[in-house]
Amino acid sequence: MEKSIVLRCRSPLWFVISTAFVFWCFLFYFNSSALRSSGNEYLYAFLFRGSKLLLVADNNHVEPVNQPFLMDDRVQPVVQLPGTVDLSEHSREDEPVKEPSIAQESTGIQAVSRVTIIENVEAKSSSNVSSAEDRVDQPGDKADSDTCSGRYIYVYDLPGRFNADILRDCLSLNLWTDMCKYLANFGLGPQLADSGRVFSSTSWYATDQFSLDVIFNSRMKQYECLTNDSSLASAIFVPFYAGLDVGRYLWRYNTSVRDSTSLALMKWLAERPEWKVLGGRDHFLLAGRTTWDFRRMTEEDSGWGNKLMFLPEAKNMTMLVIESSPLHRNDFAIPYPTFFHPKRDDEVFQWQNRMRRVKRRHLFSFVGAPRPSLSGSIRGKIIDQCLSSKGKCRLLNCDAGWKSCHSPSSVMKMFQNSVFCLQPPGDSYSRKSAFDSMLAGCIPVFFHPGSAYVQYLWHLPKDYTKYSVFISENDVKEGRVSIREKLLQIPNEEVRAKREEVIRLIPRLIYADSRSRLKTTEDAFDLTIKGVIDRVDRIRKEISDGVNSDIDYPEVYTWKYNLFGTVEKHDWDPFFPS
Ligand SMILES: *[C@@H]1O[C@H](CO)[C@@H](O)[C@H](O)[C@H]1NC(C)=O
Ligand SMILES: *[C@@H]1O[C@H](CO)[C@@H](O)[C@H](O)[C@H]1NC(C)=O
Ligand SMILES: *[C@@H]1O[C@H](CO)[C@@H](O)[C@H](O)[C@H]1NC(C)=O
Ligand SMILES: *[C@@H]1O[C@H](CO)[C@@H](O)[C@H](O)[C@H]1NC(C)=O
Repeated sequence: MEKSIVLRCRSPLWFVISTAFVFWCFLFYFNSSALRSSGNEYLYAFLFRGSKLLLVADNNHVEPVNQPFLMDDRVQPVVQLPGTVDLSEHSREDEPVKEPSIAQESTGIQAVSRVTIIENVEAKSSSNVSSAEDRVDQPGDKADSDTCSGRYIYVYDLPGRFNADILRDCLSLNLWTDMCKYLANFGLGPQLADSGRVFSSTSWYATDQFSLDVIFNSRMKQYECLTNDSSLASAIFVPFYAGLDVGRYLWRYNTSVRDSTSLALMKWLAERPEWKVLGGRDHFLLAGRTTWDFRRMTEEDSGWGNKLMFLPEAKNMTMLVIESSPLHRNDFAIPYPTFFHPKRDDEVFQWQNRMRRVKRRHLFSFVGAPRPSLSGSIRGKIIDQCLSSKGKCRLLNCDAGWKSCHSPSSVMKMFQNSVFCLQPPGDSYSRKSAFDSMLAGCIPVFFHPGSAYVQYLWHLPKDYTKYSVFISENDVKEGRVSIREKLLQIPNEEVRAKREEVIRLIPRLIYADSRSRLKTTEDAFDLTIKGVIDRVDRIRKEISDGVNSDIDYPEVYTWKYNLFGTVEKHDWDPFFPS
């Protein structure tokens, strides 16, 4: 067994690391690109075993860095699998101080005062269901012509502590960053100016990667088929800001504080008559961070995150996150928010056309930082390959060039100039960067099937070869593959077809502006609602047929079952714990 544990400290300052309980987890990489609201002040312990990275975070002894906007940083998953081994070994790593990136874009940012945000929030939270219902074809009118039939959603009116109050208290959401600004405009963040002609219309925002709680809720308020009669509803939405809630307690708070809102919510829900109908199995909830922030398996304060996903009520619900667990049934990944939030269909089409025409000077590019202390990380190898690619690769090294690395326009410009965009795992499997690069019509190159293929099944084609290139991280690690050669070998025809597919997927990966409505385009929100309703329909059918498909396969094979419909042996087995 190759064991190596690395403890990461994202603090610019050194801090003594106290203890890290290291659990068996599976590999997990972390990272993601843009805007990381929470800063990088974590301690991580990663343990690789074969290709599996086990990781643990110790969140009690970390000091913050003031860096709201990272193009590339990390989260800290703690995945503890049954039968985990405790290890306590650590090392530390210095990280360069990164600067808030948004400043670079400041000329383009619409000034948004806190007051404005609060007003927006209040306007939203007090707008009662009737506004949305003006547009709803109430069922019963004309049964046949009810376009909402089978699509109604009931949204709970939760006590303010579960949503509006959290947002109103936006100053406390992040220890180091004023999140108020990034949650303005109904979660889209400050508007970006098109200084370098990188963006199209006015619909570009410096969107934080963890702002989906607010974006999704705002969209839900405008959903065309809301009902206030839960018995008509195909699914029931719980508008809890789960991501913002845990985000404010990830560091320096004990487990009881971290769990308290989730526990209170479940207590509240379980008493509702709507809950009792199906034990919550028709309920869904969005938590706009990676699943690892909600899967703490220990009561120790050293464990990472809260235990929302493990609560019995949460196991009955459909839980939406930006990175799901390949090993669990109840969470479902939906795209990270990008910077583009169009108001009209033609903005989307124009953008797609522009990405078809744009001249791409670089064969491939990489935006990110190495993970020198993360043994098993291929980031260093990727950067080496990029640097020695004889001019075929462009690198935006997030360790060296923090400023441009955090600037949405620099990053988007580079993606637009590249044919392929490398998307290696970071601190977890997935990256916001993958979505930003596809938005720029750049073909993603993934190195781990957990980075996209076993997630986002409602949004991306199951046949990953249609829109991406897969290069096994093991081949990179062991120096068996030249990324440059591999990409050069792909025939032009195939490159064009992949790029066209990526561009075709763009609408599915963006979240439209909730203040307007797209007419013909289905965006990431629309597809998510469809996915949820299909799932709940299936659950209802199973309940009425008295069957339970959960027993068809062991839960750790969820990724395989979801993707292939079977749990037979597969080439990707070594990438996941079993
Ligand atoms: C909710 O709707 C009712 C009826 O349309 C209206 O009278 C009331 O003022 C609204 N409440 C709020 C808080 O907007
Ligand atoms: C909500 O439901 C009630 C009864 O089902 C109905 O009378 C009412 O119009 C609906 N809308 C609002 C805004 O209350
Ligand atoms: C957790 O922290 C809160 C507030 O910081 C404190 O009131 C509470 O007693 C702590 N709980 C435990 C079990 O230490
Ligand atoms: C979860 O669903 C099952 C089956 O419908 C039900 O028996 C159980 O009580 C539910 N759990 C909770 C916590 O409501």
